Amino acid sequence: MAVFETLLLETAADGIAVLTVNRPDKLNALNATVMRELHAAVDRIEADDTVRGVIVTGAGAKAFVAGADIAALAALDSESGTEFSRRGQAIFSRIESSSKPFLALVNGFALGGGCELAMACHLRVATTNAVFGLPETSLGTIPGFGGTQRLTQLVGKGRALELMLTGKPIKADQAMAWGLANRVDEPDAAMATARDLMGTILGRGPLAVASAIQAVLAGQEGAETGYQAEAEQFGDLCDTDDFKEGTQAFLNKRPPTFTGH
Ligand code: COA
Repeated sequence: MAVFETLLLETAADGIAVLTVNRPDKLNALNATVMRELHAAVDRIEADDTVRGVIVTGAGAKAFVAGADIAALAALDSESGTEFSRRGQAIFSRIESSSKPFLALVNGFALGGGCELAMACHLRVATTNAVFGLPETSLGTIPGFGGTQRLTQLVGKGRALELMLTGKPIKADQAMAWGLANRVDEPDAAMATARDLMGTILGRGPLAVASAIQAVLAGQEGAETGYQAEAEQFGDLCDTDDFKEGTQAFLNKRPPTFTGH
């Protein structure tokens, strides 16, 4: 277990690390320390070959993350606000562009920066009591950690604008119907569901998983860039041991053993 003030990072023999935002008395709100430590935790995860996938969640039974810390937001001016947004964007982009899959276990309120953190992850498992929302307009501001872009990509412009302009949150079943959540399960079963989903991903070729993430991301810069990245990633994978192993295993009717090479 790595030592942080506001995060818990637990690694396990199955390669799944659990990263918990740990400020339950403030509903895990993202203050400067959490953001700094998230950056350090992702560095650590990237450097640790024993970690193959990450589940991000919030401490306590009530919240995933209830947003950026409003006390810190209140002190921002134009210059510091732009910097605050850029820094948050950079940290969440780092999660989104990680070569390792990140899955958010949304175990309660995922509001503002919390919803943005969940959306920066590659997949989302929600508990039945989860609540997703971008209420920033009710504070006189807008999402600043990539939320205006990622929500639109995930649910489409009309639904994204409804959530942002009204500031009203949606429950887990609605998030599931809109494609914001990949799974919904009871609070006491959701971690097992998240582990199961991550376990399935970790059974696939790790280089292929990383390439799929990169190709999808490249498409956000325009379809042409996306198609080009797809062809390049596809070609690069053809030279890997894992591609030979995966195809031969299928042809020989046996399960593949991937090495990540
Ligand atoms: N920033 C700072 N502190 C926060 C916070 C945030 N985003 N969200 C919750 N907290 C704090 C509360 O101030 C309270 O602290 P206190 O006990 O020292 O007074 C504690 O967390 C518990 O929250 P509380 O509001 O008492 O819980 P609740 O169950 O009544 O309401 C919410 C839960 C999520 C509806 C409510 O906390 C809320 O609206 N939070 C802000 C959500 C938001 O606008 N996020 C976007 C920010 S950009």
